[in-house]
Amino acid sequence: MLVLGVESSCDETGLALYDTTDGLLAHALHSQIAMHRAYGGVVPELASRDHIRRVVPLLNEVLQRAGRTRADIDAIAYTRGPGLAGALLVGASFANALGYALRVPMIGVHHLEGHLLSPLLASDPPAFPFVALLVSGGHTQLMRVDGVGQYTLLGETLDDAAGEAFDKTAKLLGLDYPGGPAVSRLAEFGIEGAYELPRPMLHSGNLDFSFAGLKTAVLTQVRKLGNVCEQDRANLARAFVDAAVDVLAGKALAALKQTRLKRLGVAGGVGANTQLRARLNHDAQRRGLKVYYPELAFCTDNGAMIAFAGAMRLQADPEQVQ
Ligand code: KG4
Ligand code: ZN
Repeated sequence: MLVLGVESSCDETGLALYDTTDGLLAHALHSQIAMHRAYGGVVPELASRDHIRRVVPLLNEVLQRAGRTRADIDAIAYTRGPGLAGALLVGASFANALGYALRVPMIGVHHLEGHLLSPLLASDPPAFPFVALLVSGGHTQLMRVDGVGQYTLLGETLDDAAGEAFDKTAKLLGLDYPGGPAVSRLAEFGIEGAYELPRPMLHSGNLDFSFAGLKTAVLTQVRKLGNVCEQDRANLARAFVDAAVDVLAGKALAALKQTRLKRLGVAGGVGANTQLRARLNHDAQRRGLKVYYPELAFCTDNGAMIAFAGAMRLQADPEQVQ
């Protein structure tokens, strides 16, 4: 079965073709980052309009790369939410129109399920059950994943998402949108321990997170310093990354301990973070655990994870098509 995946929940138009026998055949993405950068964040109306412009050319691109035609598509999976309403509408309308024209089933995929299953797209995927650490711009969750559609929420953020904290910290430090990669790069030049920031809820005894206080602590430091020199900025970025990574890794390990599972799948944009990956790998190796990541390109939003999640859903239950 050849499944077309369409992702358009935010500022990335992603299309992909996943074959249930041959795996991922092709994927293509247009990122709107450059367009939104001037505004310091995503402008929903501009995002929707750009998805409209990109979606058909991207479809042609993935078909060409895979050496297939529209007639080869057996099903269409698209992101049904959560996300920006206008942006989602573009993907849903496109997928449904194409589905009706081709007379193939359409399936709306939850964006977080796409992320959650994305470690399974890698060449060395985790076996079920595993714990998933889902760290994106809008969500921070720990889930127990027993199979496709079998998810148990173990803990989540009570306020800001991890990616949101990265983005807000970046803004405070005068870095460009999207802030995550920029904060991460700047932190490499920071001196360890120059600033000490809180590790919210690290010892709360449950698997929930909180990142709003961490971002406020950065703000307080920036205000205290007044004139923030280049080294101060790097030191603050380092302190922020160290604190965020401590909390994310600490809670992920606690989730493995609580569930007595040995496999951790990391997903979402913050899963691309170098410092988080290094820390998780280090901690896991010492404890005989294994961490699984999607390819870097499939950490942030993409069509491959939607095509894959749709294909898994359709295989598990062909009745659930629209
Ligand atoms: O999963 P994603 O592409 O979109 C959502 O579903 O939200 O995640 C985007 C988030 C942004 O907050 C971005 O700053 C963050 O992931 N991010 C990173 C890195 N790459 C992306 N955060 C830290 N380090 C990175 N390398
Ligand atoms: Zn996402």
